Amino acid sequence: MIRPVLKMGDARLLQVAAPVTQFDTPELQALLQDLFDTMAALNGAGLAAPQIGVSLRVVIFGVGHNPRYPDAEQVPMTVLCNPVLTPLDDTMEDGWEGCLSVPGLRGLVPRHARLRYQGFTERGEPIDRKVSGFHARVVQHECDHLDGILYPQRIRDLRHFGYTDVLFPGAPIDDD
Ligand code: NI
Repeated sequence: MIRPVLKMGDARLLQVAAPVTQFDTPELQALLQDLFDTMAALNGAGLAAPQIGVSLRVVIFGVGHNPRYPDAEQVPMTVLCNPVLTPLDDTMEDGWEGCLSVPGLRGLVPRHARLRYQGFTERGEPIDRKVSGFHARVVQHECDHLDGILYPQRIRDLRHFGYTDVLFPGAPIDDD
């Protein structure tokens, strides 16, 4: 079911989400179905459970060919519960980000260029990956939602924050 996505200003986006304690349940499966339906309907690259008002440490992400990120490298479709992120070095990279909870805007955000992420699938199977570039960026953005952090809080220079259609004229128009 496609669910409404909470927008910046909603206090629920600022909460620290609770860990998943039971895997492979119908409730978790239903949550994931809603997350996938909602992300697909909005052409998102990722979505975190708190964005649909569920305060659990669950994120999904994945990019095949996405019109919102036409130049982005592909990222496998992933369900990640209770994630733990470990930067692999101190290198930071700036990149443009948007968020379904911050529609119509883009900002330039520094992220760790390389990191390891660990966590669990919805069935409780362990995930352990080392990634870089856009994949690493998406994971950091989504996992920030679990700690109540939206990307504008990470922008170092607010001159690099603005409306998508002004920053990137001619780019595909989206409601986000
Ligand atoms: Ni977001």
